Amino acid sequence: MQTAEKSKPAIVLNQKMMSSLEVALDRDYEVYRIAGRADIAAVPAAVRSRIRAIVTGGSTGAAPELIEALPALEIITVNGVGTDAVDLPHAKAHGVRVTNTPGVLTDDVADMALGLILATLRRLCVGDRLVRAGRWGKDAIPLATKFTGKRLGIVGLGRIGRAIAKRASGFDVQIAYTDQQAFDDVPYRFEPSLVVLARDSDILVVAAAGGAASQNLVNQEIFEALGPAGILVNVARGSVVDEPALVEALVAGRLGGAGLDVFEDEPHVPQALFGLEQVVLQPHQASATRETREAMGRLVLDNLMAQFAGRPLPTAVC
Ligand code: 8YV
Repeated sequence: MQTAEKSKPAIVLNQKMMSSLEVALDRDYEVYRIAGRADIAAVPAAVRSRIRAIVTGGSTGAAPELIEALPALEIITVNGVGTDAVDLPHAKAHGVRVTNTPGVLTDDVADMALGLILATLRRLCVGDRLVRAGRWGKDAIPLATKFTGKRLGIVGLGRIGRAIAKRASGFDVQIAYTDQQAFDDVPYRFEPSLVVLARDSDILVVAAAGGAASQNLVNQEIFEALGPAGILVNVARGSVVDEPALVEALVAGRLGGAGLDVFEDEPHVPQALFGLEQVVLQPHQASATRETREAMGRLVLDNLMAQFAGRPLPTAVC
């Protein structure tokens, strides 16, 4: 029994995953569970030189110190599409491959963006709270804002941005986008300037990859351009939005509302947002459906298996 255990590749798991994935990992690997991107101390010193993989989530990743502490590390499999929490050049320099789970979560993240748009504009959570509190018929209910026919700006027209546009088309909205380049295979208007896009949008949805290049891309200037009736929705990464500036704009009423699935320092959410009825908050749930998490888990397992069998990686990033 012990010999069999020892022959399994040793891996580190640094984020809680859905139970079917954890069961499969425990079946095929010797799993060391640690808490977060840099928790080296939790990996017993005696096994560090045997760890061949890190399994992580999109916003957890692996710190350079962790990569350096594991000399036999071959692969980091990210259970998510975003790889911004892994320093890719650093991993590459250490001969470590990185994989993610593209494609399988696109629909769900786009669905969440539409859910947040509707929940924010139509004040769904406010109505829900009012009914639960037994206040229906007692409190005045302010009228909400219509979505159909509005102007939607999308920041980042990758797979997820396109899926958001496709869904929003069903609401007869006018769609424009910004990206590093214009795409000639879509019917949406390209706007090279983010600030102009914000000025010309009623709702701005962030669907751009996180990382240094997009850090605080959506900032004070963008909130001013969106204006007191404008809505910001973020299903990408908290880092793309200047969070203190966002809170300030919302509290002061200089921005109309926000639907947020992601935050700068998860799971910490600025307390100032809790009392704001024009804000809908989600605990980073965009890909969190049974179906999608199963598919993501399968890709994680397939990549690990391919690596240890010397086969090409199904979804390699580097
Ligand atoms: C996951 C994500 O919630 O895909 C991503 O980049 O952030 C999300 O889908 C996360 O990776 C949890 O494992």
